[in-house]
Amino acid sequence: MLLLVILTNLLTIYIFTGPSFSLKLNSYSNQLTLPLLNSTVLLSEFSSTKIELAASHGIIAELQQQLNSTNLLVQALLIELTREFVHPNEKVSGINLSAVMSKLSDDLTVGLPDEVKLAVGPHKLPLGYSPRMGSDEVIAPVGAGCSKFHDELLKYMTYDIGGECPVDDVFAQRLMLKGCEPLPRRRCKPKSPVNYVEPTAVPDSLWEKPAETSIIWDPYSCKSYQCLIDRKKAPGFFDCKDCFDLQGREKSRWLIDNGKLDYGIDQVLSMKPLGTIRIGLDIGGGTGTFAARMRERNVTIITTSLNLDGPFNSFIASRGLISMHISVSQRLPFFENTLDIVHSMHVLSNWIPDSMLEFTLYDIYRLLRPGGIFWLDRFFCFGSQLNETYVPMLDRIGFKKLRWNVGMKLDRGVKKNEWYFSAVLEKPMT
Ligand SMILES: *[C@@H]1O[C@H](CO)[C@@H](O)[C@H](O)[C@H]1NC(C)=O
Ligand SMILES: *[C@@H]1O[C@H](CO)[C@@H](O)[C@H](O)[C@H]1NC(C)=O
Ligand SMILES: *[C@@H]1O[C@H](CO)[C@@H](O)[C@H](O)[C@H]1NC(C)=O
Ligand SMILES: *[C@@H]1O[C@H](CO)[C@@H](O)[C@H](O)[C@H]1NC(C)=O
Ligand SMILES: *[C@@H]1O[C@H](CO)[C@@H](O)[C@H](O)[C@H]1NC(C)=O
Repeated sequence: MLLLVILTNLLTIYIFTGPSFSLKLNSYSNQLTLPLLNSTVLLSEFSSTKIELAASHGIIAELQQQLNSTNLLVQALLIELTREFVHPNEKVSGINLSAVMSKLSDDLTVGLPDEVKLAVGPHKLPLGYSPRMGSDEVIAPVGAGCSKFHDELLKYMTYDIGGECPVDDVFAQRLMLKGCEPLPRRRCKPKSPVNYVEPTAVPDSLWEKPAETSIIWDPYSCKSYQCLIDRKKAPGFFDCKDCFDLQGREKSRWLIDNGKLDYGIDQVLSMKPLGTIRIGLDIGGGTGTFAARMRERNVTIITTSLNLDGPFNSFIASRGLISMHISVSQRLPFFENTLDIVHSMHVLSNWIPDSMLEFTLYDIYRLLRPGGIFWLDRFFCFGSQLNETYVPMLDRIGFKKLRWNVGMKLDRGVKKNEWYFSAVLEKPMT
């Protein structure tokens, strides 16, 4: 198929360029033999040459487009081929992953400055370390997707070594979300906020608005926590619109179990022996309220969050909770069979492509300990997807349903067949 694609494109390029280019060259040479002394002739000659030039510019642009579409075709082909990996119950076959990865890492550093090559490696290890590492060199990980974003990576890695980093959080996060995750490390220091004050002590910090001077506001449209709190009344869509107001709806989240989609923390904890849920993860945990409530019950929760439209990570940390700035695309950095609980509300939903979601769910299964629970809180989807896609997927991975509730989305669900489901799923003991 690859050969076919290349041949077809070669043919197109030939058809495009062959006759028209030779025609042009002939007409140039003809005209150049005309008498050159008459200025009017010269002038018209000149302007017709200009037109010819413009025309060939057009042809070059078209050629470029052809090349681009060839690139896209090859990319699509690669995606098609790699889709084989995604298919459940099918053995990985036919593709040399090591060759693909080495091609990707070559692509990544070609034409980029030394700082990128240095950041990514390989770095030689001292003698004697090889047996433990299985290699005499290490390569610092960056996302395979980085190879697709040369210009952005170049921009990200342009800074004064040892100096202050550019304030480019939003840019960096966008690069992450496109697939360059993890980003390469940099040798520069983030700008410090002016007039930073020591944080509030726990437990007061859990429910208090952090000091306005605790972060740098440049990257955000809101320039203060007060603005973020007031945003809940503003029109328009913002991520987690009302969750910066810790005295509002946040204050009562997960305290009441309505027996339907909304479970209470105490009710969920009581499904396992007292005190055996001790450590866990909240995926896409907004401003960290789930972790705050769990902390009050002596459960340590790490909250993953992105800074979409606001400084979520800094806010969580100011509350005295642990935040982790990663997307749902990457492997979670926990060892297998370790966590007692994983919670996620609203984030894991049907916007995640099925092929990717399945990897995410397997990853959650991996890091839960036997008997650990996965609280899937208000997963959003369409009615048809529920029974056709998501229920079979969860069953296939092997989760055991301890609790399961399905409910139609209230505002416009009836018309559009939009549903939520909530579940407490257990990783089997054996
Ligand atoms: C220049 O060429 C044009 C068109 O061929 C002609 O009309 C004009 O008389 C010529 N001028 C001179 C000075 O020869
Ligand atoms: C082709 O791709 C290059 C790089 O991705 C881009 O700069 C250029 O604008 C594209 N050209 C066309 C005609 O699409
Ligand atoms: C896969 O590619 C690597 C690097 O290009 C090569 O060393 C290896 O022999 C290949 N493996 C197979 C099974 O073709
Ligand atoms: C949390 O731990 C502290 C100290 O061990 C203890 O005093 C407190 O009662 C515990 N709280 C809960 C809700 O279990
Ligand atoms: C899904 O299947 C269950 C059990 O088979 C059924 O009760 C339910 O109505 C179905 N839900 C939807 C949204 O189709």
